[in-house]
Amino acid sequence: MESAPYETYTHGHPSVIVAAHARRTAEEAAGFLLPHLKPGMRIVDVGCGPGSITTGLARYVAPGEVLGIDSAAEVLDVARRHAADRNVANVRFDAASAYALPVADASVDVVYAHQVLQHLADPVAALREADRVLVGGGYVAVRDADYGTMTHHPHDPLLDRWLEVYCAMARRNGGEPDAGRRLLEWVTAAGFTHLVATATTWLYADPQARREWAELWANRMTLDHIVARAEELEISDHSELAAIAAAWHSWAAQPSAWFAFVNGEVLGRKG
Ligand SMILES: C[S@@+](CC[C@H](N)C(=O)[O-])C[C@H]1O[C@@H](n2cnc3c(N)ncnc32)[C@H](O)[C@@H]1O
Repeated sequence: MESAPYETYTHGHPSVIVAAHARRTAEEAAGFLLPHLKPGMRIVDVGCGPGSITTGLARYVAPGEVLGIDSAAEVLDVARRHAADRNVANVRFDAASAYALPVADASVDVVYAHQVLQHLADPVAALREADRVLVGGGYVAVRDADYGTMTHHPHDPLLDRWLEVYCAMARRNGGEPDAGRRLLEWVTAAGFTHLVATATTWLYADPQARREWAELWANRMTLDHIVARAEELEISDHSELAAIAAAWHSWAAQPSAWFAFVNGEVLGRKG
C-alpha cells in the first residue's frame, strides 16, 4: 500500500458534472475490457464516480461482484441509487483511495479505472496498488482522455485559451491532462505484462452532442471553486472564464461545429 501524494480532483462533484458522468456506459467506456470478462469474476472500479459504468460491468460478471471505490463519499450515494434503480445486486460502493484499495492482496480478477489516472499525482503508485490486489494473470484496464489531442472547428481562440487554462489548472492540481498517451508508460512502469494499447475517439458533431459538451464545459469553467482556484493560481480570472463559457455556447450553435479527441486505453495482465 502506498501513501497518497498531494493532488486535488479538479472538477469536484457538482450535480452538472456528476450527471454528465452518470450517462457513461460500460459498453462505451470499457469496450476494450468486455471481451475478457466472464461470469464469476471480481472487479474493482477505481474512481467510479456516479457508478453507471460500474453497474454496467456488474452485469457482465454476475454472480461475481464489482466494488466501486471513490475518494468522494458524496458521489457514492448517486452510484448506490443508480444500481438500486436497475436492480443490480452484485455491485457495492466504498469510499477509498486509489492508493489504498480496501481489498486483500491477490483477491480480484480485474482492476479498472476510467478517466481517473489523469487526476492522480502518482498514477504508477495507484497501478502498483492495483497489482497488489490482483490475482496472478488478473487484468488491469485503464482509459483516459488526452487533452493534447483535442481539436475543434470552427476555430475560436477562446477555446484554445480554455484548453490552456484547464491543462494548467489540472497540472497545478497534481494531474496530467495528456494522460492518454502516457498510459502505456505508466502501466509498464507498474510491472504489468501482455500489454495491449488501443485508442478510441469521442466526437461531438451533432447538435445535441455538441450542445451538451459545450454546456458541460461552460458550466465547469464558471463553477465557484474553479474560478476561485484559477484566480488563486493566477491562471485566469472571473471575466476571462465567463468569456470562455460564452465562446463554448457560440461554438456549439454553429451548424458545422465539430470537436474530437483521443482516449488512450491499455489492457495489461499481472505477470
Ligand atoms: C472524471 S471522474 C470519472 C468517474 C467514472 N470513472 C466515470 O468515468 O464516469 C474521476 C473520479 O475519480 C475520483 N478520484 C480522484 N482522485 C481519486 C483518488 N486518489 N482515489 C480515488 N478516487 C479518486 C474522483 O472523485 C472522481 O469521482
